[in-house]
Order: sequence, then C-alpha cells, then structure tokens
Amino acid sequence: MKSAAILISGRGSNMRSLVEANLPVSIRRVVSNRPGAGGLAWAAERGIETTVIDHTRHPDRSSFDAALALELDGAGVDLVLLAGFMRVLTAPFVDRFRGRLINIHPSLLPAFPGLHTHRQALDAGVRVHGCTVHFVTPTLDGGPIIAQAAVPVLPDDTEDTLAARVLAQEHVIYPLSVRLVAEGKVTLGADGRISTRAGTSATARLVVPWE
Ligand code: GRF
Repeated sequence: MKSAAILISGRGSNMRSLVEANLPVSIRRVVSNRPGAGGLAWAAERGIETTVIDHTRHPDRSSFDAALALELDGAGVDLVLLAGFMRVLTAPFVDRFRGRLINIHPSLLPAFPGLHTHRQALDAGVRVHGCTVHFVTPTLDGGPIIAQAAVPVLPDDTEDTLAARVLAQEHVIYPLSVRLVAEGKVTLGADGRISTRAGTSATARLVVPWE
C-alpha cells in the first residue's frame, strides 16, 4: 500500500475528504505551515501524526522547502498531497517529488491560476467554473491534469456561494484522483504528460451539484 502525507494551511476540508474516503493509502502525516491551521486538531483527534513547519521561522523558501523535504523523507511517504496548502514550492522541491506531488486547485485550469479564483471567475463572467486535480510541476498551477469537475455559475452567485459549490466537487474529485494514482492507473510520464495504464478505459462522471 502506498503511503502519503497531506499538506494543509487552513481548515483542511479536502484533507478530511481524503482521510474519510478510505483510500488504499496509509496517511502517515498531516503537515501544516501554519500552527493555527484548523485541520491539525481534526487530524490529531483521529490519531494521525501532525507536524508544523512554520514558514515564518525560515528565512526563505529554500530553507522552508528543505525542512519540509526532510520531514517527508523521514516519514517515508510515497505521495505528497497538497490540500489547501498555500505556499509556493521551489523547483528543487517539486522536482524531488516529481510524479508524487498532487494539488487541488479551485478553478478549471488553465483558467484562473493563482489566488482568488472565484472572484476571478465572477469578474470574467464565465458561466462554468470548477476545480482541478493536477500533478505539481515547477510552473504554478500548470502541471498535467488528472481530473476536473465543473459547476455552473449562477446570476446571483457571490464568491462564497460559488466557493461552496466548487468545494463540494473538490471533495469528490480529489479522493478519486488520489485513488487512481495510488493504484498506478495514472502516472506522470517521462514526457511530462499524463500516462494511463494499458487497458484503462475512459470514464466520465457528470457531477450534478443539485436537482
Ligand atoms: C480549497 O478550495 C482548495 O482548493 C484551495 O483552498 C481551499 C482549501 O480548503 N487551494 P480546505 O482547507 O481544504 O478546506
């Protein structure tokens, strides 16, 4: 069975969805860059080892990333799952965990990379928005896409209502994607593209957020 660490910065609802999905993955650690991250207590209550690596105590990104890599290597994890982890990781860190580092982003990439994605979507006037799970590469929010889910944007949506609709789908596609990677059905190929195991058939799930 593969092992994983989940990296968070805040409330950790995506972390919860991964833990509660009963994936064929042993969750060895939850690591936060913020001591006050709400998700830490939830994980600890469930007997998952938690670690804080406070980024404010590191002089630069390289120093923080080195401490993080040491922690993850020490825990001996195969997969590193970013779940609302709000730090940009350096290229050496990303390269070290190539093909094992996965992120969830609250937009239909390549639209709306970066922060405030729901505000960006509302400002752009798109009628379809959503979320993306992707392998992390040194290009911010630019790695090969594993799965996406779409939701409609309604005329009276606010950032909060739209975020809630997208978040519900994040909780569906993140566990689904991690399962595919953990089972070896989806890998990051040497050419930098998604590679699927021979015989893997294409499936589409229509995600309907309401009736
Ligand atoms: C999620 O929308 C995630 O995609 C984004 O930040 C939010 C974190 O939420 N990067 P949570 O901490 O997983 O509840």
